[in-house]
Parts: sequence; structure tokens; C-alpha cells
Amino acid sequence: MKRNCLLAFGLWLLTFGASAQAPDWENPAVLGINKLPYHATLQLPSKWKECKEIVSLDGEWLFHWSPKPENRPVDFYREDYDVSGWDKIAVPGNWQTQGYGTPIYININYPFVRNRPSVTTEPPKDWTAYENRNPVGSYVTFVDVTKEMLAKNLILHFGGVHSAMYLWINGQRVGYSQNSMSPAEFDVSKYMRAGKNKIAVEVYRWCDGSYLEDQDMWRLSGIFREVQLWVRPLVHIADYRMTAIPNNDYTQAEVQAVVSICNTGKKKATVCPVVMIDDLFADKTELQINAGDTTNYVFHYTLKNPRLWSAEKPNLYPFSVELEDNKGNTIEHFDYHFGVKKVECVGEVFKINGKNVKLRGVNRHDHHPRTGRYVDDATYEQDLRLMKQANINFLRTSHYPDREYLYELCDRWGIYVMDEANQESHGYGYANQEMGEDPAWKDAHVDRAESLVKRDYNHPCVILWSLGNEGGIGPNIQAMYDTVVALDSTRLPFYDCHPRYSALHDFGYPTPDVLKTEAEKETEKPLIAREYAHAMGNSMGNFQEYWDVIYADSSIAGAAIWDWVDQGLYRSGKGEVKSEEFLYGGDFGDQPNDGNFNINGLVAPDRKPHPHYYEVQYVYQPLTFKRDNDGTIRIINRDSFTDPSEYDMTCDTVSFGSERLLNVYARLKEDKPWAEKGFVVAREQFVLQPYEYPSLPAKKSGGKAEVTINGNTLSSWIVDGHEVLQGPLEPYFWKPENDNQRAAGFARRVAEWKEVKDVTVNYTIINDSSILVEMDYQPTTDRPIIPKVGMRMRLPADYTHIRYYGRGPWENYPDRKRSAFLSEYEMPLSDYETEYIRPQDNSNRCDIRWFEISSQTSAVGPRLRIAGLQPLCIRAWDYGEEDLDAAPRHPQDLQRGRFVNLNIDLNIHGVGGVDTWGQRTLPQYTINGNQPYHYAFIIMKCNSGRI
Ligand code: GAL
Ligand code: MG
Repeated sequence: MKRNCLLAFGLWLLTFGASAQAPDWENPAVLGINKLPYHATLQLPSKWKECKEIVSLDGEWLFHWSPKPENRPVDFYREDYDVSGWDKIAVPGNWQTQGYGTPIYININYPFVRNRPSVTTEPPKDWTAYENRNPVGSYVTFVDVTKEMLAKNLILHFGGVHSAMYLWINGQRVGYSQNSMSPAEFDVSKYMRAGKNKIAVEVYRWCDGSYLEDQDMWRLSGIFREVQLWVRPLVHIADYRMTAIPNNDYTQAEVQAVVSICNTGKKKATVCPVVMIDDLFADKTELQINAGDTTNYVFHYTLKNPRLWSAEKPNLYPFSVELEDNKGNTIEHFDYHFGVKKVECVGEVFKINGKNVKLRGVNRHDHHPRTGRYVDDATYEQDLRLMKQANINFLRTSHYPDREYLYELCDRWGIYVMDEANQESHGYGYANQEMGEDPAWKDAHVDRAESLVKRDYNHPCVILWSLGNEGGIGPNIQAMYDTVVALDSTRLPFYDCHPRYSALHDFGYPTPDVLKTEAEKETEKPLIAREYAHAMGNSMGNFQEYWDVIYADSSIAGAAIWDWVDQGLYRSGKGEVKSEEFLYGGDFGDQPNDGNFNINGLVAPDRKPHPHYYEVQYVYQPLTFKRDNDGTIRIINRDSFTDPSEYDMTCDTVSFGSERLLNVYARLKEDKPWAEKGFVVAREQFVLQPYEYPSLPAKKSGGKAEVTINGNTLSSWIVDGHEVLQGPLEPYFWKPENDNQRAAGFARRVAEWKEVKDVTVNYTIINDSSILVEMDYQPTTDRPIIPKVGMRMRLPADYTHIRYYGRGPWENYPDRKRSAFLSEYEMPLSDYETEYIRPQDNSNRCDIRWFEISSQTSAVGPRLRIAGLQPLCIRAWDYGEEDLDAAPRHPQDLQRGRFVNLNIDLNIHGVGGVDTWGQRTLPQYTINGNQPYHYAFIIMKCNSGRI
């Protein structure tokens, strides 16, 4: 009775407090109420399912969505509140991807009016946040608790809730949390009862914490990570930290375990913590802990001749942490693993285990096209498999901690991780002082550093702790830095906004030349490009140029591509998928939005690799092959802990006509979790004997063909009674933009090339089935850059089968063709094209010797062959330039199938690969319009129809 009165009094105080001041979710001083301290992940995520202490609460919960706080069902947490008519929603999941409210994609600006700590200031009427001022999701689920469970310590764990949440159990308020990408835990023992229990969670789309969560991504909300009820012994392991640092000559490692044990019971207890390392070592000590106390138990062990952990050789030592009661019964058991490694900056050289390792990196957002911010285990595995296969050895968890399982995979499969705190206040500007200096926001910053390090400390994959991205500078960041350094001296701190807070100097999005000069200027710290090579749309040109610079300078630690996966979302309704299109900013009517600026991946949202993924795979390969004049192949090893002899080396010599090629491969000798034995880790192609292009026919005319030629234009060619040309063959210098070019004003700068001048084309009928086409360009005015030098024609719509000898099989451009080896390839037009999420220039193949295209039905027309008198670049589409120039938002908006559009070029402007906000294609991959060009090809009818 007395207790109830007290409780009622407490509630009254809270309610009273709330009406007198700002709500918790607009008060930066309130980061959590009744939250348990952050701690390390206690059990390996892959073993959560079999862990006896964990009751998963994932599944369908009851759900109600309100557009603003005033509309929310205020007392839904009460036991007598009828929720029987509520909808069901998947937990974990975002509510916007399940049909509630609007996903908003915005980069730098806040999706609400910037007026901290308010997130509900009135915005312009066309903003999504005007009507939906701060949507609230009210969640309810029920859990059965037995008497035995009730006798234990019950902890409710939320892996991630965006952005702020209140928790009630059986009508009683338990607590509050923000800091959405880190776990929130509450001791719910005293609120639970035997039988059915009501769990009510109220989630706010935005809170003051959102001022620190201004990352460039879809802004989504809800309980998007696992929910677990931990049923724990009263005396239990609250935390443990394993540290394993090698000595200077790596002959032994000092292993230290610090295990915190707390007694949540009412009596003094005697327990024995037991730490076992594989079958090497076991330590057991008896401890007495007073009721309510937490004790640290520390042990040391010297590991002789340790097998070191690295991304190349992810050697792990499994260990377990147990508690025994005073009768010797195991009352708690957790499994984990540690790795022995050393991370350091020695002067301006970044080292892992004493070696100048190069970080071949990528940034990754936690994104799934259907489930938004919730990414399931299988997708994590798929991502890491594809990363390992692309020779990526470094992952930045931009811009917040990911789900725990990702780190376990990185430990096991070998990927160095920069683990990033959930801190970005970009809406106030890069390196802003507003958030960096305001003392009211200090604790909020520190909370994000602390939760990061405390959760992930035990993962050997972590090499750098990042304080966040594009946030503030000032005492608040200094406090984050101090927190990280105090919590962990074995990994290095990193920050992008000022080197003062960082062991490495960051320089984002340099050109290869700037990267070189910046690294030369910086003499105190290693340099890293925490973001570079903006992979938006058809991109990743000049990627090798970056690595020529990075490999040549020991002070460059490496660089991480922006970014891994296109953040396209499927349109979803309640439960069902409405469309298979990938949507981006604005497609949901979200305002304000940043359009397709979140479509920057190496892989599509469904993880299908884009053509530029393969260029990364090639440039990042650990071995480089060189062929000396005497035919000897030399291998340059870019790895630090792997010998080339650990791969199977194979080579093939192949001939295509007169050309002889040597392909060299380094293959896995055994299965790995991410690829099978035989998988090609590195490869190269050498030309042993070059291709002999056809020479100009001696007799330049005399054949007969049914052709119509008007000046430079071949407007009709009738072969076997069929008109082959649906659009004329004519000189054509225009090319639509890709995303990089669009951002750099390419179309505007080179618009004059839509008009053709200074060109002469000669057509020579060689015989009734072949025509020699020669183009001559002689500039008369100053026009610095040509989009492409060549010709275009249109064929009937069913010319959809292609065979060619040139670079492939995937799309390649002059600045992105190293991964595309010469060979004969055959594919339908639909595979020749690349379907970018925002349609743009695509499908080029370089160094084509000959190209054949045929109709699907031989009756309709002849098979055509285009044979270059020098290498050709050819693009083929089932739509035209005008369709791309109209800037359709999605592939589905393209009008296809009227004709086949074929560009046959001497050369084409490169795709670019620095950034998508102004940098142009590197000069060596542009075409100088102020010099003459000449090229030629023969177009001929082949005997049979279909290839
Ligand atoms: C970076 C930022 C990323 C992303 C990228 C552009 O500066 O850190 O979050 O916005 O630009 O795609
Ligand atoms: Mg940003």
C-alpha cells in the first residue's frame, strides 16, 4: 500500500514536471531515464538464438501511428486501454517502410525546422513535417512470465529505437531513452508479474537527439532492431572486456579480462567467475558480492606465440565467461572470441601488427530496400561476402554503430572496422561550433561516444573509433575524444572535422593529385580519405589513379569509397510491396528532399553489383602483375600478412583471330566463408600479340548496294529487301550526362555539340554487303571538350542480340576499363544496357574490335557486323538520347522498344569518379575538341540472321 502511494506520488511529480517544462524529447539534458549502463555485447550475436537467458520479443506488435504528439493515444499504456483494434507491425522494422507516415530522404538539412532543442517549430506548409509535425508510434505487445522467471533479474533490451522512446510495463512507467543506434536497457524486474504482461512503447520520430542524428540517409523511425527480454540470475555478469595486445616482437600477448559482476539480489552472494580461453587456459576465483554491489574481477594471461588477428588472417581465440554458484553449478555462460593485434601510428605511418597496412575501404549505411534501417543477418552476410570478394578490407560503419552481428562477421571473415559514433550535426555546418561548443549538448555527445566503445569493445575487427561525421568542433568533441581514449587505449580515435581529435588526418573527396599533395603536406600524422570516389550512378572513373598515389606513399593509410549500397526503397504499403522500383528522395512526396543523392552505391539496393563494383574488385586486388620484356611475370604483393604462394596461380592463353592474350589468375586454394576454392582474388591480362585491324580496302568502291546517302548521312540501306536503318547513320557528338556530369554542369558546358559541324563522312560501297565509313573531324572554332567522337544510327527494335569482341562483359568507359578484359562476349541488349536507378548515360564498351547485332527473328533483317579499323567504343540502348535528356526519374519512365540506338565511337568522355558536386572527369579522360580526329569502320551484312 505504502509503495503504491509512493509510486503515485512519483508519477504525479513527473506529470507535473512535464507540464512545467519542455518534454524529455525536446530537452538535451534528458538522455535517458532509468536506463542501465551501456556494456559490451555479452553473447556472440550468432549464438543469441540458443542463449538460454534471452527471450526474443521480435515479431508482430500492436501499433498505432499519430501524425503529431497531440494526437497520440496518451494513456495507451494503461492496462484497461483497449488496443484490440490496433494494426499489427513487424518488430524490428521501421514504420514508414510498413506504410505509416512518409520516409524522408534529406542530406545536410534537418527534416524539421532547425531551432534546437525544438523539433516541432512550425515549418513551411509544403514540408512533410508541417502536417506530420512529429509522428508518434505507439507499440504494444504482451509477454508471458513464469514464477521462475520472476524470481530472476529481468532486463528489457532494445537494440535500436529511432529516435526516442518511453517504456511502460503493466501500466507503470519504466523509463525513457534516446541515442537511437545504441542499445537501451531497463531493469523491469519490479514491474513484471507472473502471467501476461503488457509492454507499451511510445516512439517519437524526432527528439532533441535528432540534432545529433543528421546523417545523409532516409529519415526513418520505429523499433528497428531486436527486442529481448533477458532473464538473468540475480548475480550476473554485467559486463566484460577482453584485451589482447602483442609485445614488441610479437612473441607473446598480454591477455587481460575484466569481468564486472553485479548482485541485483537482496542477499550477499558467493560466486565463481570462470574465464576459459579455448583449451589453453582457465581461471576461476571465488568472490563475495554484497547485495546491490558490482565487483570487477580481473585476470591476466600471457599467450605465447600468438596467432595475430588481421583482416587477411582473422585468427580468433574463442573464450567463454561463466559464473558458477557456490555449489559449482554454472548459472551463466557466454561465448565470445578475441583477437591479438596492435594498431598504431608510428610517425606518419599507420600500422597494424607492425605493418604499413593499406585500408582498401568502403563506407556503408545500414540499409535494406524493404526493411529500411533494419538489415537482417542474411543481408549482412551477403554484404560482407561481396565486400570480401571485391578485396575490400576496411569498412566504416557510416555514420553510427550497426547491428552487433555485422561486427562478429568482420571478426570472423576479416575486415578492419572504423566504428562510428552516432553523431552528426551537419545541419549546423561541417565543423560547426553551435553543437560543438554548447555546454547543454555536452552530455549528449559523450553519451554517443560511450555507448559506441562500451558495446563494441570486444570486437577484434575494430581498429578505429570515429567520433562521428560532419559534426561540431569544440569542447563537446574534445569530451567525446577524452571519453574514447579513456575507455580504450588499444584502438585509435578518429574524427573528420578537425585533426585535433584524431590520430589520423582526414581529407575527404580529393582528386588523385590532391591526395598526393595533401599527403606530402601533412607530416605529423598518417592521412586517410574517410570518404572518396563518390560512387553515384555511373561512376568510379580514375580509381586506379587513386591507388597509384596511395601505394606510392607510406603515409597514406588508405581510403573508403562513398558508399556501399544505393539507398533505394521499394514502395511499400501496409504489409505489401506495391512496386519493384527503387525509390529515392521525393518519390514519397517527402519535402524537403535531396532527390537521388542517396543512390551512390557499388551495389544496388537488392545488392546486385553495379559495373563499377568490378573495377573496385580489380583495383583493390592484393596482387598486381607485371610482365617484363622477356616474358617473366612479376608479382607485387599489396598485402602484409599473406604470401602470394598462398594462392593457386593459373594462366590461360587465348586467341581471338590474330590477337593473342594471356590471362593470369590468383585463386583461393581453399574454401573461405565468403568464396569457394578457385575464386579469383587477383587477375591481369596481357596482350601477347596485338590485334590486326582490317586495313583500308584497296579498291575503295565498285560494289553495289541499295543505299541512300545525303552528304554525311546514310539514310537508307536495304539489305535482302529489309530496311536496316530506322534512323540514319550520321556523325553524332552528343552524349547524355551521368550523375557526376550533371552535377558538374556538363550538358550546359558542351551543349554546342548537339549541333554537328566540322565533320566529313565518306561512305564507300565495298560490295553489296559492306560499306566503309570514314569520319574526319577538323576543328575550325575553339571548342575544348567533345562529349564523344563518333556516329549514331538506329536499327529496328528487334535488333536485341549482341556479340562483340572487346572489353567486357560489364560496362566500361575510358577511365573505368581495367577490370574489363578483352574477350568475345555475347548477350541480349538488356544485359548490354545498365539500368541505373536514375536513368543516365550507360552501356559503353571500350576497345571493341568488332561488334555484331542481330534481330531475334532472322526473317526481319540481316545480322550486322561493325568492324573497326581501330578500337571502337559502342553504346546500345532500346531508347534514345532524347529519352535520357528528358531526365526521367526512373527506368520505368523510359519509353523503350521503338528502335535500337547504336553509338559507334572513336572515343567517349570518361565517367568521372571524384565527387558528384562539381568535380569533372579527369583531363586525361576528356576529348580535346581542338584537334582533328579520324576514324573508320566497316559495316557489313553477315550471312545468317541471328547470331
Ligand atoms: C559526405 C558525407 C556523407 C554523404 C556524402 C555525399 O560528405 O559524409 O554522409 O553525404 O558526402 O554522398
Ligand atoms: Mg552529412
